Amino acid sequence: MSRLRDPQDPLFQALNSSIRFDYRLAPYDLEQSLAHARMLARSAIISDDDLAQIERGLTAVREEIDQDHFVVAEGDEDIHMAIERRLTELAGPVGGKLHTARSRNDQVATDIAMLVRAHALDAQSLLRELMGTLVALAERHLDWPLPGYTHMQRAQPVYLSHHLLAYFWKFRRDLQRFRFCLTATDDLPLGAGALAGVNFDTSRMFVARELGFGGIAENSLDAVSNRDFVLDYMSSAATCAGHLSQLGGEIVLWSTAEFGFCRVSDSFASGSSLMPQKKNPDAAELLRAKAPRLVGRLAGVHGVLHGLPLTYNKDLQEDKEPLFDAIDTVELCLRVARGMLAEIEFNRERMADAASDELIAATDVADLLVREGVPFREAHGIVGGVVRATVERGKLLSELTDEELAELAPQLRPADFRALLEQTSWLESKVSEGGTSLARVREQLGRARHVLVEAPA
Ligand code: ARG
Repeated sequence: MSRLRDPQDPLFQALNSSIRFDYRLAPYDLEQSLAHARMLARSAIISDDDLAQIERGLTAVREEIDQDHFVVAEGDEDIHMAIERRLTELAGPVGGKLHTARSRNDQVATDIAMLVRAHALDAQSLLRELMGTLVALAERHLDWPLPGYTHMQRAQPVYLSHHLLAYFWKFRRDLQRFRFCLTATDDLPLGAGALAGVNFDTSRMFVARELGFGGIAENSLDAVSNRDFVLDYMSSAATCAGHLSQLGGEIVLWSTAEFGFCRVSDSFASGSSLMPQKKNPDAAELLRAKAPRLVGRLAGVHGVLHGLPLTYNKDLQEDKEPLFDAIDTVELCLRVARGMLAEIEFNRERMADAASDELIAATDVADLLVREGVPFREAHGIVGGVVRATVERGKLLSELTDEELAELAPQLRPADFRALLEQTSWLESKVSEGGTSLARVREQLGRARHVLVEAPA
């Protein structure tokens, strides 16, 4: 019953109804309603007998939902109305008391905060599993050299362990971002009512404790209009998906015949419908492609919130589909990335071959000169000249004669120069903190393992 006289136009209902997607809020809505009902009884707003009947009714509704027997009725605009309607059918008029001192506005904000919190925790455990897989891979490929790239050109060699751990730290930051979502969802909106508070002396802290919130939102207007935690989660998810996309993109590249650095397992690849010889790294490609979708979803919610006057506006219903899609996408991608990495195979020779390109020792040669007292800028120019002349003469650096060296770079001692061209020294020379030398990678691995045993948030 409401002040409206005429029935809703079906077109309006199609636009307005959210039950087909907010149905997934049901578990949170039920939990919230139970806590709210208990609070109403404790505050003597409803009787203990009312509470018992409401609890029984909500438990029955939960069973119907859990067992997929719940039937959505024609007029159920959203999950909140559907649950209350069913409760009243099962428990009788007492069901109507549940909504005392509550509005769908604070109710929906609370459900969403609970959902975001649950999925921020899920994302953290999925990230930890992926990070554990990266650590295991790094341990298995500790001293496998490959070229590191800048501008997609061979730059300086690194160990595969170091390269893999680079992703570990990216995901570590994602973990921290998702952890912040727990702070962002820590203030209970419920109790704000429609916008101004409610006409009963409720105990919001009681509900907060029941539902695992650390405190209560201080301002009722803010409580019903706040969706910052949706933005925080989606922004964490978008950044995380960006990292997964970089990882996927690199695996696509590395698994080409041209690179031949790795092979994804058949279980994460597909064949071609036309070309029998093909094995396509579709999983890695889709990891690469999903990131912009999450950025788009995030931008969509920013758009909904932009310029929205306080407090609740129906616009806020548009937070859900983008959020749910972000959750489903990032969680699936995290699982796939882990599965794919658990089975990936790297090709030691192909990587070592590429890393033994002598030209990528050029920086080290320049540093040899620096140790002889030549300023770095000048050394850079000298070695640039050596490389140019070597390439023009169709030679390798290691094929330069003593005479040629004396002509091109008199400051360079041929013995030191030749010793340096022994491949491993280019890697082992990177002794600075956070560098690729084995000793530093071992330190890094130790820190990475420590992150994984830290107590989760
Ligand atoms: N389905 C609505 C939403 O998701 C619930 C809140 C409705 N509140 C209202 N005043 N119409 O935002």
